Amino acid sequence: MQDRYAVFGNPIGHSRSPAIHAAFAAQTGQDLVYEAILAPRDGFIESVRAFQAHGGKGANVTVPFKEQAYQLAETAGNRLTPRARDAGAVNTLCFGVDGLIGDNTDGVGLVNDLVGNLGVSLAGARVLLMGAGGAARGVVAPLLERDPAALFIANRTGARAEGLARQFQRGGVEIAGGGYDDLSGRVFDLMINATSASLAGELPPLPEGIQADGAWAYDMMYGRETPFMAWAGARGARVTDGLGMLVEQAAESFFIWRGVRPDTAPVIAAVRASLAVGA
Ligand code: ATR
Repeated sequence: MQDRYAVFGNPIGHSRSPAIHAAFAAQTGQDLVYEAILAPRDGFIESVRAFQAHGGKGANVTVPFKEQAYQLAETAGNRLTPRARDAGAVNTLCFGVDGLIGDNTDGVGLVNDLVGNLGVSLAGARVLLMGAGGAARGVVAPLLERDPAALFIANRTGARAEGLARQFQRGGVEIAGGGYDDLSGRVFDLMINATSASLAGELPPLPEGIQADGAWAYDMMYGRETPFMAWAGARGARVTDGLGMLVEQAAESFFIWRGVRPDTAPVIAAVRASLAVGA
């Protein structure tokens, strides 16, 4: 029987993960199947257990189950990786004979896209992270590991960003948090939108003059130009969406499960092309 993998979410119909993992498997000659599973909102754990009982070897977890997956990996007999603990969420499960392991590949996916695909130098950069929810929290530690000069976390509810900044205060990086008003007078080489504002077609209330010459603007959303991408592009930033992050986090999960690192560039190009034709 082929090894089985899946992504659990609700909704899950539009997930690109099955196509991405099928492309990785074909490219690396790995014999596996990867499916999308719609878990009931109150039945995530049961769905995972049933999948495991039917030969599932590992899984990705997406909205709204990443925190429940964290709790599952925290229970006795299972294990959480340090980066999942930092993120407070699990997006990758690995089923072993003696319990499951909960990991999180979102942050490394972002960093690999920034550094490996886009050529952004994080070392010494002044970085703005917008948002203080799960998406933002998942990327803080991997960003700090790359030694930026400073990381400022801005959020509509400033106190949430301050709390997040306090939680990650470590090492030599200057890290601070606050509201969007606190951004006036600061300048950034990289601005990352980890808010859900784009979903509502909204733009976080960014002041003018915060981007350095040659700054990058990264939106974790993908599929269309967001208001933040348009705003930053109109002010001369180099702009990108989060499709590369999506494929890179998948590649890291694939590596955890199979021990093989796929080449992401052709897969990013293929997903980009399928988005362009509305597939
Ligand atoms: P996720 O898991 O996607 O991060 P979340 O935990 O609900 O989702 O967090 C959503 C984030 O987007 C929060 O930082 C939220 O700001 P608040 O903490 O102030 O609610 C932010 N957000 C949502 N809509 C926004 C908008 N229109 N402008 C700015 N920030 C917004």
